[in-house]
Formats: sequence, C-alpha cells, structure tokens
Amino acid sequence: MTERLIVVGSGVAGLTAALAAHARGLDVTVITKSLLTESNTRYAQGGIAAVTADDDSVSSHVADTLRAGAGLSEPTSAEAVCAAGTETVAELIAAGVRFDVSDGRLARGLEAAHSRARILHADGDATGAAIVGALVARALEAGIDVREHTMVADLLVRDGRVHGVHLLDGEQLDTDAVVLATGGAGHLYPYTTNPAVATGDGLALALRAGAVLADVEFVQFHPTSLAVGGNVLVSEAVRGEGAVLRDVHGHRFMLDVHPDAELAPRDVVARAIARQMAVQNGAPVHLDATALGADFLARRFPTIDATVRGRGIDWSVEPVPVTPAAHYVMGGVATDLWGRTSVPGLLAVGEVAWTGLHGANRLASNSLLEGAVFGRRVVDGLIEQSASSTPTLTSGEEPIVLRAAGADRWCGRDDIQQLAWEALGLEREGALLDRALQTLTTWQVASPTDVKSAEDANLLLVARAVAAAALAREESRGAHWRTDAPDVARSVRHSFVRWEA
Ligand code: SIN
Repeated sequence: MTERLIVVGSGVAGLTAALAAHARGLDVTVITKSLLTESNTRYAQGGIAAVTADDDSVSSHVADTLRAGAGLSEPTSAEAVCAAGTETVAELIAAGVRFDVSDGRLARGLEAAHSRARILHADGDATGAAIVGALVARALEAGIDVREHTMVADLLVRDGRVHGVHLLDGEQLDTDAVVLATGGAGHLYPYTTNPAVATGDGLALALRAGAVLADVEFVQFHPTSLAVGGNVLVSEAVRGEGAVLRDVHGHRFMLDVHPDAELAPRDVVARAIARQMAVQNGAPVHLDATALGADFLARRFPTIDATVRGRGIDWSVEPVPVTPAAHYVMGGVATDLWGRTSVPGLLAVGEVAWTGLHGANRLASNSLLEGAVFGRRVVDGLIEQSASSTPTLTSGEEPIVLRAAGADRWCGRDDIQQLAWEALGLEREGALLDRALQTLTTWQVASPTDVKSAEDANLLLVARAVAAAALAREESRGAHWRTDAPDVARSVRHSFVRWEA
C-alpha cells in the first residue's frame, strides 16, 4: 500500500501529482533542484490545448494530435488526455488559474496543426507562469513538504523496486513510491528555449534504476526562438495570430514549403527555417508581426513584447530575428496510462515520461494538458490499481542496451552540447550518428559532486540514449529526420533503450 510519496520536480505534472496525492491522504514530499516555482512549465507561453467550446470536439482534438504525431502516437493515450481537457481546465480554474476571457467566454488561440482555435492562455502569453503560480500557492496552503535546491543523485533500488532517493548531499530518503516529474533535457543542446534546470535528470535517473526509455530520438525543436541575446521562446501563437516568416530578402518562404505555411506542423517549420538559414550562411530568418500593430502585440503578448523590446527590437515596425532551438523531448521514461514505469515503485509524469501521446511530433500546447492529466492519473493509479498488477507498456521491440564500458576521455558540457547539435539536431545522418555514439561511449565526466557535474553525467547518458535510438531508426518521421533515410518506414515501431551497468 502506498502511504508515502516523493515527487521529484515542480512543474505542472509534479505539482498536480503532489496536490492530488495530498488530497487523497498520502504523505508527500516534493523535491526540486531549484525553486518550487522554477520549471519548464513556468516558461510555457502559448497555453494549454483543451476542448472548451461547442464548435470543437474531443474527436477533433484527438485527430489533430494523431495527425501531428505522424503515425507514432498511441490513440489510447490521445483519447485519455483529450477527453480530460474540459475537466482539467475546470480544475485549474478552481485552483486559481485565471485564463484570459473574451466576450465573457474563455479566449481561444490557434497554433500549428490544430484544426480549431482551442489554446487557452493566461495573462496573454504567460500561461505557464499563471498555472505554476496557482498550483504553488495551493501546495504551500496545503502544507506539502517541499525541499528546494535539492537534487536527487540516484534512485534507491532494492529487489528490483524503487524504495527511495539518494540526494546529492548524501542524505537518503525512504518512501513507498517515487514520481519523476523532472521535465525535459533542452540543455543537451547549446540552443534551447528551456530554463537551466532542464538537463535530462529524470531520464538518466530512470535509466540507472533499470527503467526503459521509449522514442527518445524524437526531440522537438521550436521553430521560433529569439536569435539575439539568448534563445527565448517566441510563441507559435504569434504565428497563430497572423505573423509570417520571411527570408533575409523579405520573401515569405513557408508558402513554398507547405500548404499551411507558417502553421504547418512544428517539425516542418523548424526544418524549413534551418534550411533557409543554411542558404543565408547561418543568418536568422525574420518573424514579421508588424501587421498586428503595437497595441495588439503588447496586449496579447506582454511577455514577448517586453523581451523583444528589451533587446532593442520594436516588433510593431520591424521583424524579429528567429532561429530554431531545442524545446521538448517527446520520448521519455516508458509509462502506461497510470504513469507506471517498467520498475515497480517508479512512476513518471509530464515531459520526462513517454505516454505515447506525442508520437513523432508533439501537437502545440498539448504538454501542459498532458502534465495536468497524468499528474492526477498517476495518483489515481497508485491508489486504485492493485500493487501487484504489472503495467502494460507497448512492446514488440527489443530494447537497445547501453553499457558502461570503454570511457577513457574527459568531456565537458560544451563538448556534449556541440556533438548533440551536430549529430542529434534537426537533421541527422547515419554515419554521423554512428561516430557520435562511439565518441559518446568513450567520454566520461567528472564524478558527480555538485549540481553541475551531476547534470553533466545525466546529459552524457541521455545523449547516448538519444544517439543510439536515432541511429537505430532508419527512417524520417516527424521530428526525426535522417538525410540518409528520408522516407517514412511502412511499419510503425517504438524504440526502447535501457542501461546495464
Ligand atoms: C509556444 O507557445 O509556441 C509553445 C507551446 C508549446 O510548446 O506547446
């Protein structure tokens, strides 16, 4: 029976799980590497995709999710998440999130590959911050035990079951179950929209504990991050409101690439921008939002407005230089529909988890919804599922096994990021992937004694997992593009990776 729960991470998924567990009488501790308010969620701009109006339907949201997923999304996961949209939004509102309203109804934005405007937002483009603010307030009000600035170095595994965590400072905490909600791994790459905390910790912890990762070769690059002064996100919602992309000569090049132009699936737009930048000798492309007007831009996108103006760009009269940047890991720790991994006592939710929802290309703004839905489901599962029942993970494919062997060269974070950008980026190639994997196998980082070195060790392991899965997937699908295998394979398969010390 589960009485004590440790949640690692404090984005929408972790906080939702902690609140749900507390409400159901569990003794919960939230461990977070930075502040309770710091996570990828906090920086989410566009919003949360959910069906909230009569002109929309769950089946349409499911269909859009599956189409974006390019054949690799699991329909059962898409159905579970999309069907829970209305109720999840109601719960967030009850928790104190004030979504923007227009004419007395929830205001709805449009983003790429959605057939309807269904993206709810708060404070214009600060949706993630509004959600985190409300959930953190509820967690503090509830008196949930929180350990900030605390890093989990490893999971404690005994007799094949996770029974606690080993902290970087040497302390051990026992528990009945651990929920990983550590977010993504944007800092595997030198260019990312993610905050500094996104270093793949949960993926590495899970691998070292014996869990299986699924589809980690699928990394989403956001098409439009600011190309001056750091890769801050410029939301897809800006294009949803009518902004267009232009090359350095002012030509609207997306019209030549896809019938949906700037609102084509995210991977298509990101690759088209990268190719256009290559033609322009690396110069960024331009996001032209001038037709939207200064008042609208300031009102609808206050965060982006302040950021671009802070960098000397008046985007109501001049275009914004933008470039793709690593944004979201669509694969993750393989879980079933209750967040259960292949290791008893270990659960995973949010970006760190693979539920099969995102497939090869995550539909914009589906991740906040997934985090909130699975944050609740993981607790329902813990309490309502029999402890002895085993999760059904998608199977059929033998996991790739990574082993600790042959590492004899030191590397730093810059080395890992540079290799990842060149070999594991928007376009991949078999021979380059093979070399990258061999190089990564020979690399080692300093023993994890502080946060930075522990993160580097995690990033190195995650890089190996991504490289191995990307090398094995000899096709191009969604965000995984192989120049040496540009077609979609006829048969659809998930990839799995595990670690053997
Ligand atoms: C954005 O606002 O463009 C990001 C939304 C997302 O990544 O889902």
